[in-house]
Amino acid sequence: MAGAGTGTLLIRHAAELASVAGPDAARAGAAQGQLELIPDGAVYCVGERIAAVGPTAEVLRAHPEAARADTVLDASGRAVIPGLVDCHAHPVFAGDRSDEYAERLRGTPYLEILKRGGGILKSVRLTRAASHAELLAGLRERLDRALALGTTTLEAKTGYGLDEATERKMLEVIRAANTGDDRHPVDLVPTLLHAHAVPQGMTADQVVAEAVDATARLAPLAEYVDVFCERGVFDVAQSRKVLEAGKRAGLKVKVHAEELCLLGGAKLAAELGGTSADHLCFTDDATLAAMRAAGTVAVFLPGTPFVLRMAYSDARRWIAAQVPVACATDLNPNCFCESLPFVFTLSVYEMKMTPAEALVAMTINAAAALDRAHEIGSLKPGKLADVAILNGPSYLHLGYHVGGNPVRTVVKRGRVVVRDGRLTA
Ligand code: NIG
Ligand code: FE
Repeated sequence: MAGAGTGTLLIRHAAELASVAGPDAARAGAAQGQLELIPDGAVYCVGERIAAVGPTAEVLRAHPEAARADTVLDASGRAVIPGLVDCHAHPVFAGDRSDEYAERLRGTPYLEILKRGGGILKSVRLTRAASHAELLAGLRERLDRALALGTTTLEAKTGYGLDEATERKMLEVIRAANTGDDRHPVDLVPTLLHAHAVPQGMTADQVVAEAVDATARLAPLAEYVDVFCERGVFDVAQSRKVLEAGKRAGLKVKVHAEELCLLGGAKLAAELGGTSADHLCFTDDATLAAMRAAGTVAVFLPGTPFVLRMAYSDARRWIAAQVPVACATDLNPNCFCESLPFVFTLSVYEMKMTPAEALVAMTINAAAALDRAHEIGSLKPGKLADVAILNGPSYLHLGYHVGGNPVRTVVKRGRVVVRDGRLTA
């Protein structure tokens, strides 16, 4: 199914190309809401890269050979956007937590279910018991759905092992989906989240000690280290130990911070030069200032407060404070959502972001939250040819079309991988 495009591909006559112009970097403040919209647009791809972007007439003038590209897609009446980037996800897990979903709906809080051995710990038991092949099959199913919804790059965290052997198994599953001839089209970014919960019979300090000890051995399979910094899980001092061990092993830093209360995880991320701090349903001025100064991207995961029926992040406050904002799914067995278009809808309706800010949040800023703004996240010559064609004539359809799939066609690394709403292989 995978592999990069080797031929040429032209998308022409798009009703609109919606992307950002300018630097390969996260956008903050007013720039977060500035798109470049090109009517009657074209994207010409050679191999796995974008070769030209602009009005169709101009692209064809500069590249007459594009008219005879191996694949020509007519996007009349449809909008074209960069492939979406899901910069925070937990897509590797076994089993199902629909029973807890029903219980939460009856009023039992998330952390209470975790404390008695459910929640993350239930997924841990099932994931420990699952084989590599079972986990890989589940991952690939979720990636298929994400791809059909326009996601072309996705972060993949571990965290349902909580022991070295299972954390390694999860990293190997991520690697298997991401390498070789039958690798999945969605590019994965592996994150080690060994310190994700405290199993019954252990203390948080014991988990931290084990995670710190295992980090150097697991680091070659990962790119980021992450920790669940939360009251009753890992405090700031414990989180610091985990993240510093990751840094010593060459990993970049992300933090689950301020999901259920204001504890200081986001400030810690900034202090350690973290690429992102994620969740951030609570904050204060000192945190905003620290993240802005450090260039740490704020990643909002509105699907989680949606399913937990909690308060959303105050996106307007973050954008006013000039902190770049990204939005992601948090796909996991609690917030079981592969849909960035749904996240777009929540970002606009519930977090009061403008649609332009939301598109930036799941393209260039999400790419920056994975340290890949130079490779993905905008329609620009030289970048990977990761492109989505929507059913509707405007990028607004990402949020305007609620509960369906606004994505029609997906090009990944120059190959058509979704055509007319169907995976091509
Ligand atoms: O980002 N909060 C911690 N981790 C995940 C949830 C994982 C789970 O419940 O399985 C999150 O929300
Ligand atoms: Fe998460």
